[in-house]
Formats: sequence, C-alpha cells, structure tokens
Amino acid sequence: MMDLDAIAGTARGGTLYGIGVGPGDVSYLTLRAAALVRQVDVIAFFAKRGLQGNARGIVDPLMGPHREELRLEYPVTNEIPPEDPSYRQQISRFYEESAEALSLLLRQGKSVGLLAEGDPFFYGSFMHIWRRLDKVFPIEVVPGVTGMSGCWTRANAPITWGDDILSVLPGTMGEAQLTRRLADTDAAVIMKVGRNFARAKEALIATGMAERAIYVERATMVGEVVTPLCQKLDDSAPYFSLILAPGRGRRP
Ligand SMILES: C[S@@+](CC[C@H](N)C(=O)[O-])C[C@H]1O[C@@H](n2cnc3c(N)ncnc32)[C@H](O)[C@@H]1O
Repeated sequence: MMDLDAIAGTARGGTLYGIGVGPGDVSYLTLRAAALVRQVDVIAFFAKRGLQGNARGIVDPLMGPHREELRLEYPVTNEIPPEDPSYRQQISRFYEESAEALSLLLRQGKSVGLLAEGDPFFYGSFMHIWRRLDKVFPIEVVPGVTGMSGCWTRANAPITWGDDILSVLPGTMGEAQLTRRLADTDAAVIMKVGRNFARAKEALIATGMAERAIYVERATMVGEVVTPLCQKLDDSAPYFSLILAPGRGRRP
C-alpha cells in the first residue's frame, strides 16, 4: 500500500497552486489539496473587508504556526451592483494588483497556494488570477468538491437520475429568465441565492418545482441549515446558500 504523503506529492518553488478547499468541512479536501496547504511557502486567500476569508477559515485546522500569508482584500463586494462601471473598474484593478503581488512572490522562487472555496474553476475568483498569470508562471489547479455537491450530499438528495438534465443557474438572473430556464430543465441548482431568494422562490413556484425544492445554507460548515423550500418562512438568505431542485428521472 502506498503512503498517503507519497500519493499527495510535493510543492515546487515558483509555482502557483489554485487549491480547491471544498464546501466547508476540512475533511473534504483532496489529499493533494491538504498536502499543498501544509507545504507551500505562502498561503494566499481572498477576503471581504473585516472578515477572515471563508477559504482561509476552512483550512485553519491544517495551518501550523509562523506561516507566511497573503491576504487579498476585495475593495467592494455587494455594496455596488456588478453592472456598475465603478464596480468593474475597482474589481479589475484589484485583480491586477493581486496578480502583481502574487507574481512578486513567484519571482522570488516561492511556492504559493491561492485558496478557492469549492472548486477553483467553478464561479471562482481564482479564475481571474489564473487568466492573468497563465503561461507567465507554472500553475497547477487542484480540483475541489463543489459547494453544490456538498449541499445535495447534506440534503441527502440525489440530484440527477437516468438522463436528467441539470441546469446550474445564478440567482442573480432576472425572474423571467430564471423561470424560462427552470421550465426547460429536469433538475436545477440555483446558486448565489443571498438577496435573490424571493425571486428564485417565485420562479420555482411558477414552474411547479417549489414542492420538491430544498434550501441549503452553509452546507458542511458550522451553522448548516437544510430545509424543504416550502418550510422556509422568511426570505432572508446568506451568501453561502443555494436551492436544489432534484430531478425525477429513470429509477429502475
Ligand atoms: C462565487 S460561488 C463559488 C462557488 C465555488 N467555487 C464552488 O465550487 O462551489 C459562491 C456560491 O456558491 C454557493 N455555495 C458554495 N459553497 C456553499 C455551501 N457550503 N453551502 C451553500 N452554498 C454554497 C452559494 O450559492 C454561493 O453564493
């Protein structure tokens, strides 16, 4: 039997690692992700102003003392709508400066692990850094268990059966568009629910999917909530929430 550390491999200097840290529970990190979190010279992570950073919080149990860290703090998050030119300008400058700060470390020959909630290539901020540094420095992306996968596991709800079509929809879409997409799918995941909860619920009611829909908040984390949508009495939802509408396909 191979040793787990040998399977997980090592970190190389001058390389950027996009490390998927999964949905919240540290035990869901892959062997490679956990090894890199412990080995890289610098742990980099995104954080909202004044908060610890979700991905950084997830890996906390793996972080020993005296680690070099690079905190990349968003100048804005949801104070300004993403369509606003000022949002685009500020966030684009932020990614440029973050890529520059990471480049400096990589040029010094350090290995840098940039943490990403869930999977780095699935609606992740990491992708904006990857776009700027790919082909400039060696980059390795370590896949992670997605948040939605953590949600349907905790909800004990298989999401697709047989040939079910699954649609992953951002809750930020308008209600008419959301309704149209839901009407044309067998199973759905509505992400980024937050302040869009009421609109998402209306679209699910309009398409007859509300009865089987499940609301999940902070899956696999402290404070997890899993509830049938019809039993959720208020319209408030935090950032880490989504709605599942499981498929009903072939079940031989
Ligand atoms: C910007 S996306 C990041 C997705 C992430 N890269 C992934 O692979 O899941 C953030 C959205 O993912 C969903 N999400 C991620 N993790 C979650 C969790 N543990 N519980 C509930 N929703 C989660 C929420 O809808 C949240 O608004």
